[in-house]
Amino acid sequence: MRTVFVNGSYVPENEAQISIFDRGSLFGDAVYEVTSVLDGKLVEYDGHMTRLRRSLAELKLPSPATDDELLEIHRELVKRNDLTEGLIYLQISRGAADRDFLFPGPDVKPTLLMFPQKKSLINSALAARGQKIILVDDLRWRRCDIKTVQLLYASIVKNQAHDAGADDAWMVLDGEITEGSSNNAYIVTEDGTIVTRDLSTDILHGITRKSVLQCAAELQLKVEERPFTVAEAKAAKEAFSTSATSFVNPVIEIDGASIGEGKPGPIAKRLRQVYIESSKAAGI
Ligand code: PDD
Repeated sequence: MRTVFVNGSYVPENEAQISIFDRGSLFGDAVYEVTSVLDGKLVEYDGHMTRLRRSLAELKLPSPATDDELLEIHRELVKRNDLTEGLIYLQISRGAADRDFLFPGPDVKPTLLMFPQKKSLINSALAARGQKIILVDDLRWRRCDIKTVQLLYASIVKNQAHDAGADDAWMVLDGEITEGSSNNAYIVTEDGTIVTRDLSTDILHGITRKSVLQCAAELQLKVEERPFTVAEAKAAKEAFSTSATSFVNPVIEIDGASIGEGKPGPIAKRLRQVYIESSKAAGI
């Protein structure tokens, strides 16, 4: 049984409790982060915590813990659960109060919950095979840069993809790809340029995205941060997605169109390898 953390205490998962009035479940009034763990070390920890602080500030959501405390809890959960590979999930909600659309006053304390999840991240059958992607309309609210727990649409389109015999969905806004259900989206054009949507409120500013683009620059690959169309995606030489738990994940099919040779492309494979090596080495 896992040890989890809720509101100041480490408890066995079956004893963890939050209020039925928690605004995270009633209003989706909560933000979260997912930090991967490799060799028992936190990957890209500073990036995730910087984004967490930004999400909290954008929603005027008070923080229940200092940076030092959050790092200690992450490490303690890794230790207490013997976690060598997987992730730590962190969620902060605006706390529990009578159901009211107005935010509660300062006396209501935010809820902090964290738990570990074991997962084989490096040896991924999906990354070896390559993902099949369907395209769906991007019907999310327009502040996708804030990492909130309002994940219902992401979950619906992921299920739609599975029902269609695919692995994931990429979302389309005004004819252009925004991002994947829980990852950032990339294509590689005929001339070898990596294209991914530029940062705005339309996408989550992926922590993996930032590092993978750095890896690409170090490998002297050309990168363009701009929106790309459905037609460009279907005609791409390669495609892939990135996220904290999937690293770089090749794509072999988009809406029935085979990408490249229908198997993971060399740029995606190389970036996956380089990213895993460098993030492992920098883990804390
Ligand atoms: N999802 N875009 C969306 C919509 C996401 O939910 C995620 C992450 C990303 C990639 O961000 P990062 O590289 O910082 O993980 C992009 C996490 C992994 C999740 O919800 O499980």
